[in-house]
Amino acid sequence: MFKILEKKALNPTVVKMVIEAPLIAKKAKAGQFIILRSDDHSERIPLTIADIDQSRGSITIIFQIVGAATYKLNMLEAGDELHDFVGPLGRASEIEGLKKVCVIGGGVGCAIAYPVAKALHEQGSEVIAVAGFRNRDLVILEDEFNAVSQFYLVSDDGSTGQQGLVTDVLRQLLDQGEQFDEVIAIGPLVMMKFVCQLTKEYNVKTVVSMNPIMIDGTGMCGGCRLTVGNEVKFACVDGPDFDGALVDFDEAIARSKMYQQQERHMYDEACN
Ligand code: FES
Repeated sequence: MFKILEKKALNPTVVKMVIEAPLIAKKAKAGQFIILRSDDHSERIPLTIADIDQSRGSITIIFQIVGAATYKLNMLEAGDELHDFVGPLGRASEIEGLKKVCVIGGGVGCAIAYPVAKALHEQGSEVIAVAGFRNRDLVILEDEFNAVSQFYLVSDDGSTGQQGLVTDVLRQLLDQGEQFDEVIAIGPLVMMKFVCQLTKEYNVKTVVSMNPIMIDGTGMCGGCRLTVGNEVKFACVDGPDFDGALVDFDEAIARSKMYQQQERHMYDEACN
């Protein structure tokens, strides 16, 4: 059993939980993920690790309430326990040796972009971070990003930061002559697709973090498969980070919508 040490709502639909998991905290690195179940009937939820505290023996997760499983998870409070909490899974982000990086986060993807920005900052890299949200009410981790990077905030409606898209800021930076060893983009598939299209124009290597449907998280079920450079890859063992220029985003977007109807049905059942 894995105790919830803290729970905090970051915005109306995004929640942070700190989970007691000393063995995972000992081994985990930025970019890796866990799979959890709130009880033995719940769906498995893969979540990239948002923070690691080795001294406290805890792992922070940040999730969006989007379906039945996350709705049930949000019913739990500090002091309650999770049924399963498995990890660390996947490969850690490869950030060693990067001197200057632009980290881009979109929406709840910022929960994954932030620990990468923090790890880069801690190793002495120069970090420019760009985070995009639909509006002011949905902003998360603004102070945290500010502490570890030169930070740009954008919103679709202009209610906070610069109005526009993360790609608008990235284009401005590239047009100003900023030279990045790498761009790291984490967020909705459509956002990552357009970031990669832009960076291709400027010939900048771009790494994306893929979060497809996962079941076992160990490379056995094939549920998380993606096409990367015309090869089939499993996000859970080959990723979740991939060279964005090689990812077939259109296929990934189509696959991400395959179970929308069933997910809606499960969510309605869980809420009623
Ligand atoms: Fe089953 Fe990746 S989740 S192969």
